[in-house]
Amino acid sequence: MKIIGLFVLFAYSVVARVIDETCDGVIVHNIYHNKEIIKEDINSAYQLAIDYDKNTLFFSYSKADVGSMFNSAYINLKTNEYKEIEGINGGFANAVDGQTKTVYLGGSDGIYKFDYETCRATHIDGVNDNTWQIFIKKNIYYTTYPDEYVYVYKNSQSERVPEMLETKAMLVALDNNDNIYFSNSSGLFVHKKVKNYVIFLGDYNLNSITNDVNGNLFFSTPEGVYFIDDKSEQVKKLVSIDNIYGVVVEKDGNIIYASENSIVRLKPSKTNCIVNEKHSVNVI
Ligand SMILES: *[C@@H]1O[C@H](CO)[C@@H](O)[C@H](O)[C@H]1NC(C)=O
Repeated sequence: MKIIGLFVLFAYSVVARVIDETCDGVIVHNIYHNKEIIKEDINSAYQLAIDYDKNTLFFSYSKADVGSMFNSAYINLKTNEYKEIEGINGGFANAVDGQTKTVYLGGSDGIYKFDYETCRATHIDGVNDNTWQIFIKKNIYYTTYPDEYVYVYKNSQSERVPEMLETKAMLVALDNNDNIYFSNSSGLFVHKKVKNYVIFLGDYNLNSITNDVNGNLFFSTPEGVYFIDDKSEQVKKLVSIDNIYGVVVEKDGNIIYASENSIVRLKPSKTNCIVNEKHSVNVI
């Protein structure tokens, strides 16, 4: 009896140790994820955006040798071909209009269109602001710095978004029901379209907000990646990772994030993990 008992105990501790080891890493939805480095030695990659049609990731990065000057670049997610984009001043914001299949880039003097053939950006008419972020949902929405105003660009003209006249916003995103999510130094808010009022979602320190191919919204803070469940009206933390600079979601749902000096894809493994960490869930 004693011997069997010892054996069971021994076997149990071995199993427990193996599970612990396998799960000491990145876990999303209770599944262990491997980190796959897409681009190394890239300084502070911000404002990630994917052209799903061309499977290409756009981002801006900081040219360490030229102070804090930002520059736009892209990487083909299949071939890993990397290119820096010419023709834009202080390239910072990146967004893709999936419907018109147009890539827009924001610089220190307005918005540009990107041309794959020449690998150059060309300034569009009607926007000359220092552009912080661009988000496309039917129209082109963008924020400015240092004013932190939200504009919409349509019919070759831009105007302040009427619902956002009273507030500052650094980042903006629309869900499938035209609710406007925005963040400023006070946290994350949503302007509800139907009832025309603003709800505070939490004092998250957002550095990026993005939508996946179905229009679901995700955002990042320096502590991790979050999902906004618009049906249950909850913010859910998907994964805790330190020093995140931005996030984007691939067509098949894989998370890509930027760290201080690299761009990383989280690839799900076949390992299931039991996570004891309490997920931070905020009820709206
Ligand atoms: C952020 O937005 C909210 C909601 O509009 C507003 O009440 C708050 O004053 C803003 N914070 C800053 C720092 O402007």
